[in-house]
Amino acid sequence: MIATNAPPYKLPTDFLWGFATASFQIEGATDADGRGKSIWDDFSKITGKTLDGRDGDVATDSYHRWQEDLDLLVQYGVKSYRFSISWSRIIPSGGREDPVNEAGIEFYSDFIDGLLARGITPFVTLYHWDLPQALHDRYLGWLNKGEIVLDFVRYAKVCFERFGDRVKHWLTMNEPWCISILGYGRGVFAPGRSSDRLRSPEGNSSTEPWIAGHSVILSHAYAVKLYREEFKAKQGGEIGITLNGDWAMPYDDSIQNIEAAQHALDVAIGWFADPIYLGQYPAYMKQMLGDRLPDFTPEELAVVKEAGGEDEFQGHVEYTFTRPDGTQLGTQAHCAWLQDYAPGFRDLLNYLYKRYRKPIYVTENGFAVKDEDKKTVEEALQDDDRVQYYRGVTSSLLAAVKEDGVDVRGYFGWSLLDNFEWADGYVTRFGVTYVDYETQKRYPKDSGKFLSQWFKEHVDNDKPSS
Ligand code: NOJ
Repeated sequence: MIATNAPPYKLPTDFLWGFATASFQIEGATDADGRGKSIWDDFSKITGKTLDGRDGDVATDSYHRWQEDLDLLVQYGVKSYRFSISWSRIIPSGGREDPVNEAGIEFYSDFIDGLLARGITPFVTLYHWDLPQALHDRYLGWLNKGEIVLDFVRYAKVCFERFGDRVKHWLTMNEPWCISILGYGRGVFAPGRSSDRLRSPEGNSSTEPWIAGHSVILSHAYAVKLYREEFKAKQGGEIGITLNGDWAMPYDDSIQNIEAAQHALDVAIGWFADPIYLGQYPAYMKQMLGDRLPDFTPEELAVVKEAGGEDEFQGHVEYTFTRPDGTQLGTQAHCAWLQDYAPGFRDLLNYLYKRYRKPIYVTENGFAVKDEDKKTVEEALQDDDRVQYYRGVTSSLLAAVKEDGVDVRGYFGWSLLDNFEWADGYVTRFGVTYVDYETQKRYPKDSGKFLSQWFKEHVDNDKPSS
């Protein structure tokens, strides 16, 4: 038994906790049952685009092993599971006039039934970066707002129609910052664009990320509008968006550094959260980007504002903490962008709640242990640094909810399994379950057992919250 040593508070009975994954990172089976290509299929095969030169064709083979994955979830005792639907399994060519693939519908329908039969609540992301390749070829995907918004909304509609009787928690998009900056600015994620004619001093595209981000916001907003108008009342669900919320702290208390930290938050989170929840882009972004930041038409702005209205929630991915001078406060993860700094997690939850006044789901939270890929299975299962990370953040979570009054309604560890970590290939492992990629065998790590135990102790199983 792993001692959890956290304060003796309890989270309410209906607090949703579990693990998260994403379609392209786990499913494999890229040509099964009529699936169309996604932008990651070919991109991950280009030399140099993944650290180990490996692609997503097999990943953790979860398309075939989903029953086994469900059994794992049961073993951990989760209440909920966050997964994403592959757009190109549902509509292989992606567009609003293109046919729906019934085999794709059946796959996710069976999967959702499998979760429900085990008492696990589905938490579904519609878009976790695997844009149908056909839409990129046709009109450059997120760069073409006139087309992509309509195509995304039709895809969302099919999902609401076919799964909304059973799915009550929807996320439209995963991490628009990554979609825009990594896919259209730095070119390190699919579709790998960074060669815009206008270049910023860093050599990155200086216009495309903001255009892509704008389309993502509008697609989110119009999908929420549709859900509200046609589905919400009869299906009784909720819908939000997942933003990656890296925390930034001023280096010292000088005005310049306080402002610099706020600017970092404006670009990381405010870029998307401010229009949706506060009705406009952050002033700093407008000032920094001038007319490179697209404007909303009055009609669009009304829809965007509405999407952040009333009874919706904010979903966030909380990971990282980096000091401006590069010095470390916490343990360094395998990947450069992540350090373990639990107090930052509590501060970030407070910041988000105070600024946007919306209930929060932590839709991802996780840690990659250094050199885990070089360890034997036995060694990897004792993932002390990851246990340490989760021990810290769960205490911060409890303190934020119970001491600071932040309305957090769910928490998902990233990830259920080691899986295809995008540009890192399979080198960087985030799973609470070890995957032996030769045999596809799954082995629970200590961190998985820790979280399982922690939530058993800290969710009130006697009385429902009021
Ligand atoms: C967030 C992304 O949503 C997920 O796909 C990724 O694997 C993790 N971060 C870890 O980098």
